[in-house]
Amino acid sequence: MLSSALIALLPVLAGVVQGVAVERNGRWDSDSWGVQSQGHGHGFSNRWQNPALVTCQALTANILDGCPEGTLLVDGSGNWTTSTNSTKTHGSKASTATFTTIQAAIDSIPYASSKTYTILITPGEYNEQVNITQNAAITMLGVTSNVTDPTANTVTVYRELANYNVRYTDNVWTANLIVAPTYNSSATGAGPSGTPVAADTPWGNKDLRVYNVDFVNNYSQYSSGPSLALSTAYSYSSFYRCGFYSEQDTIFIGKRGSAYMHECIIAGQTDFLYGFGTLWVQDSEIQMRACGGGIIAWKGSNLTDSFEPGTYDSNHFGCYIDNANFVAANQTVYDDWQGKCYLGRNWNEGHRSVISNSYMDHTVAGQGYEKWTASIPLPTPVFFGEYNSTGDGFNLTARVAANITHEMTAAEVAKYSFANVFGSKKPSWIDSHCL
Ligand SMILES: *[C@@H]1O[C@H](CO)[C@@H](O)[C@H](O)[C@H]1NC(C)=O
Ligand SMILES: *[C@@H]1O[C@H](CO)[C@@H](O)[C@H](O)[C@H]1NC(C)=O
Ligand SMILES: *[C@@H]1O[C@H](CO)[C@@H](O)[C@H](O)[C@H]1NC(C)=O
Ligand SMILES: *[C@@H]1O[C@H](CO)[C@@H](O)[C@H](O)[C@H]1NC(C)=O
Ligand SMILES: *[C@@H]1O[C@H](CO)[C@@H](O)[C@H](O)[C@H]1NC(C)=O
Ligand SMILES: *[C@@H]1O[C@H](CO)[C@@H](O)[C@H](O)[C@H]1NC(C)=O
Ligand SMILES: *[C@@H]1O[C@H](CO)[C@@H](O)[C@H](O)[C@H]1NC(C)=O
Ligand SMILES: *[C@@H]1O[C@H](CO)[C@@H](O)[C@H](O)[C@H]1NC(C)=O
Ligand SMILES: *[C@@H]1O[C@H](CO)[C@@H](O)[C@H](O)[C@H]1NC(C)=O
Ligand SMILES: *[C@@H]1O[C@H](CO)[C@@H](O)[C@H](O)[C@H]1NC(C)=O
Ligand SMILES: *[C@@H]1O[C@H](CO)[C@@H](O)[C@H](O)[C@H]1NC(C)=O
Repeated sequence: MLSSALIALLPVLAGVVQGVAVERNGRWDSDSWGVQSQGHGHGFSNRWQNPALVTCQALTANILDGCPEGTLLVDGSGNWTTSTNSTKTHGSKASTATFTTIQAAIDSIPYASSKTYTILITPGEYNEQVNITQNAAITMLGVTSNVTDPTANTVTVYRELANYNVRYTDNVWTANLIVAPTYNSSATGAGPSGTPVAADTPWGNKDLRVYNVDFVNNYSQYSSGPSLALSTAYSYSSFYRCGFYSEQDTIFIGKRGSAYMHECIIAGQTDFLYGFGTLWVQDSEIQMRACGGGIIAWKGSNLTDSFEPGTYDSNHFGCYIDNANFVAANQTVYDDWQGKCYLGRNWNEGHRSVISNSYMDHTVAGQGYEKWTASIPLPTPVFFGEYNSTGDGFNLTARVAANITHEMTAAEVAKYSFANVFGSKKPSWIDSHCL
């Protein structure tokens, strides 16, 4: 969102000065977990595993142990493919091919296929844009010694790009990962409905699953324009114990895009969850790196729904966050930004978001959401939902007085249950082990 860059920058520059940044893997946090995340009974359950994947992801001497036959190996470091020590190579469990970049592995997959492709990525930093247009089931695995802990991830896809001063024709150029069939469908565009997408646009990937991979877009330590970690559209994608670290517009779920995130870490400052499509975030951590704009900025449209195009009431686009921790990324942010982070703001008149059963530390503003004055005025069909929040960031008196955030009843929140939003309790494109 171009206009938000300017709005957000002003209050933020002041926050940049203090604290000696401890940069770890492109994340500037003093701690991979937000300061208040532990001990609230929220967020990470650290229990479920997909038994078919755990051994494959483990850091074994024979790196492809436990992987499906034909797994594509991405080894940027060369430690597993060039070693003369044969126990370090992939031995008898031959990979069909070995690549040094993730995109090269993606490019080896046919555009349309009914096969499932598994890609195993060895530890390291991958400085590339990954662009997936294929309509074939793809499972992307990061090697890790602890699949249940997203702070232990060893694979980072990083970029250092922001659409600073609109230097690119669209935000999508900055994204670490694109999941969309065409350029136009992946673009943010401008105006209430964004870049037009041709009616004959095919669907992109309908089953992308990514496990234990971090996407870090570290152009700067504060909002400097859109800086995407993820851009999806016309696709179904899911992410498990992944990290998305950027400052502004971190995650874009575009038209007809549906995405599911489980036990992920999503970090940003300004409008860091935005889009037209449908995003469900479960048991995750929303990390505030400063405040500006809102956390969620959604555009709704009766044309952008994945399931039943129709009226606002009959479609289920929106951003849904359940059982999450909304916490300051580190102690400096916690100390400096009390009461300053808004839960979200309406990017257009069709914004819809529901935050349920979540813990919020004191960085969340008393009023909850805010109106985006630059866009179409309230009321409705903007929907700024909240249900059963806890923590110092939840001030019911302030919420009611401002009359912007809609405190939902149990019956109202049930209308936006997982099954209602996705039309199924266990959509086939989501790993059923975590549902
Ligand atoms: C805290 O996080 C902010 C935002 O990412 C960063 O600018 C700052 O350097 C961090 N401070 C410390 C002490 O890590
Ligand atoms: C971003 O992270 C990469 C990988 O850790 C690092 O090489 C690069 O210097 C970082 N960029 C900035 C601007 O800090
Ligand atoms: C080969 O690697 C294995 C496992 O890392 C190690 O135990 C062994 O000593 C190595 N052999 C040689 C000849 O380097
Ligand atoms: C690759 O191996 C070298 C030498 O053992 C080691 O220093 C380096 O950390 C390894 N890199 C990765 C990404 O594992
Ligand atoms: C994996 O990480 C989780 C969460 O940090 C921790 O509870 C668990 O003990 C770890 N497991 C292992 C084997 O290290
Ligand atoms: C992604 O790949 C598609 C197909 O090759 C291409 O049309 C599109 O321009 C690419 N997107 C970007 C941002 O490079
Ligand atoms: C992409 O959108 C632009 C306008 O934003 C349009 O001029 C162009 O024809 C579109 N391209 C395709 C392939 O639909
Ligand atoms: C979408 O909404 C617009 C404006 O309310 C209306 O003109 C149009 O017919 C609607 N389209 C569909 C497919 O319902
Ligand atoms: C409220 O959320 C907490 C988790 O924060 C959960 O344990 C509790 O069951 C929820 N209450 C209701 C009524 O849903
Ligand atoms: C709260 O705002 C709504 C419109 O969004 C309005 O209809 C209602 O009267 C307001 N309530 C109060 C108490 O101001
Ligand atoms: C809650 O908000 C009200 C109204 O803005 C304010 O007077 C009160 O001090 C706040 N409570 C806390 C604990 O911050």
